[in-house]
Amino acid sequence: MMTPPSGISLPFAARITGTGAAHPEGVLTNDDLSQRIETNDEWIRERTGIRERRISKPGLESEYNSSLGTRAALKALEMAGKNPEDIDAILVATCTPDTLIPSTACWIQQKLGAHRAWAMDINAACSGFVYAVSVANQYISTGLYKTVLVIGSETLSSFTNWNDRGSCILFGDGAGAAVIEQVPSNSPRRILSTHMKSDGRLWDLFHIVSGGSRQETTPEMHLSALDKMQMKGPEIFKVAVKTLAEFAVEALQANGLSAGQLDWAIPHQANLRIIEAVARRLDLPMEKVIVNIERYGNTSSATVPTAFDEAVRDGRIREGQTVLFDVFGAGLTYGSALIRW
Ligand code: UT7
Repeated sequence: MMTPPSGISLPFAARITGTGAAHPEGVLTNDDLSQRIETNDEWIRERTGIRERRISKPGLESEYNSSLGTRAALKALEMAGKNPEDIDAILVATCTPDTLIPSTACWIQQKLGAHRAWAMDINAACSGFVYAVSVANQYISTGLYKTVLVIGSETLSSFTNWNDRGSCILFGDGAGAAVIEQVPSNSPRRILSTHMKSDGRLWDLFHIVSGGSRQETTPEMHLSALDKMQMKGPEIFKVAVKTLAEFAVEALQANGLSAGQLDWAIPHQANLRIIEAVARRLDLPMEKVIVNIERYGNTSSATVPTAFDEAVRDGRIREGQTVLFDVFGAGLTYGSALIRW
């Protein structure tokens, strides 16, 4: 689905005016992992591009999902020159919430003191940030709200089976945030379009068996790690390459652009080999692809906003440049967004 549908003109546009990121302090290297399971640094680097990831300390409040999200949000607000009271709505993309009830968005609202805002979580797994940007874009472009805070925040380490070498090597914790504000509809600097699709038929490529209302976690299930992420890695790999390439093309075509006209692409950071394969398909040089997987691993909905924030702050992404967000995740879910920074 593309937003806005072609032919419909909306009274306003939405622009990302501030970005922020936060990670826990603890670093888990490949060598650390090789002390616990049968793996090694060389295999992980060659097969995934990951060197290390950040892991929240269990029970440490300053490293809860909502605390990382709050820290990222405060940085984004500072860049945008906004206060928590300016926020109309808080959308938190997460699949690893602090608590099932209340939402992580409500925890973050409380921590920020954003008392005027309403807040909700959006769960589209690793695609969540783009889905949330799309929702914010709609509310702002129709004129309903002026300032929406979008956060992608995850503590995947709590849902990782640390005995499964086929998956645990990939994941890390972190949060990224974006302040999105209303601008005139003809503003050159804005969200140009968003595109999403889901395919629930592919649910079993990546899921958690127990811990929801469908199946409570019994002690036996916990011992078998059925309350942790189960992933069919090679199968997802193939779908990811295909759909990331397709959604990049969809976003470019919707805006009459070629891949050569893109300044930057920020793909979901799941595996460096996936990212490189997609770049090859799009004929996009890797110099235009923003990658931070080597230091953070796969942080699900936080990969795109943290990489975006890093490239904005170090000056790689400059005013007026065109940036593609391109994602896929459990569900399965897919999406892309094209923005002019
Ligand atoms: O948010 C996104 C969701 N997830 C993804 O995007 C994951 C996408 N998939 C992947 O990134 C890759 O499939 C993995 C990195 C998970 C696995 O890499 P692979 O190249 O697809 O490896 P494989 O599962 O096909 O396994 C190849 C071999 C196997 O050994 P044999 O059977 O050939 O002897 C595995 O047992 O590599 C072995 N292996 C490992 N060896 C050392 C699997 N994991 C490891 C490991 N260390 N950590």
